[in-house]
Amino acid sequence: MKIAIDGPAGAGKSAAAKAAAKKLGFIYVDTGALYRGIGLFALRKGAKTNSIEEVVPLLAQIKIEMRHIEGEQHIFLNGEDITGLIRTESVSAAASDVSAIPAVRDFLFDMQRDIAEKNDVVMDGRDIGTVVLPDAELKIFLTAKPEIRARRRVNQLAEKGVEANYDDVLADVIQRDYNDSHREFRPLKLAEDGIFMDNSEITLEETIENIIALAKERKA
Ligand code: DC
Repeated sequence: MKIAIDGPAGAGKSAAAKAAAKKLGFIYVDTGALYRGIGLFALRKGAKTNSIEEVVPLLAQIKIEMRHIEGEQHIFLNGEDITGLIRTESVSAAASDVSAIPAVRDFLFDMQRDIAEKNDVVMDGRDIGTVVLPDAELKIFLTAKPEIRARRRVNQLAEKGVEANYDDVLADVIQRDYNDSHREFRPLKLAEDGIFMDNSEITLEETIENIIALAKERKA
C-alpha cells in the first residue's frame, strides 16, 4: 500500500507521516531529505543553488541513497551518512532552490518510485500524490493556517534555544508557500483525488488517528 502525504513546510507532515507509518508497520519516506542532500552537495561545491547551469552538471557526481537503519531513515551522499547535516537553515534554503530545477526532480524520481514499489510506504513531500505516486491508495494534503505554522516554527526554534521573530517567520512562511505553489514545474497542489486536511485546530495525535482511519478504510 502507498500513502502519499503532501503539503507545505510546517504543517507537521513528517511527524504525522512518521507516526502513522510506525503504527501501520510501513516504511516512512521523507523525500525532502533527498532534495536536502543535493542542496548540501551544491553548497559544498560552492555552486549557486538556484542556477540550473551550475547545479545540473553536479548531478553526475552525486550518488544519493536512502537506507532504513533500525526503523530510521538515513541519507547517504556518495557513501557519507549526511542525516545529521541536512537540517540547517542554509541547507533548507539550498534544498528549496534545487527542488525548483526540473533535472533535479527527474534525478530523484526513480529512486522514490523504486522504494514505493518494494515496500508499503508512507511518503511525505510536495508532489508525491500528484507526480511520484499517482497510483497511491491514499493521498493526503496536510496543511495548517500560515499563522499556526509560523507559531509552531517559532516554538520549535525556541526549544533549540534560537530566538526568532514571529512576524519575520510568518513572512517567510507566506513567501515559501507562494514559491512552492507557483513554481512552474510541478508545484505543490492538491491531487485531484486527494483529501484536504487542515490541522490548525487539531492535535498531532488526532491528525495521526485521522490518517490511520483513512488508511484502514482504503485498505479494506
Ligand atoms: O520537506 P522538506 O522541508 O525537508 O523539503 C525540503 C525542500 O525540498 C523544500 O523546499 C521542498 C522541496 N521538496 C520538494 O520540492 N518535493 C518533495 N517531494 C519534497 C521536498
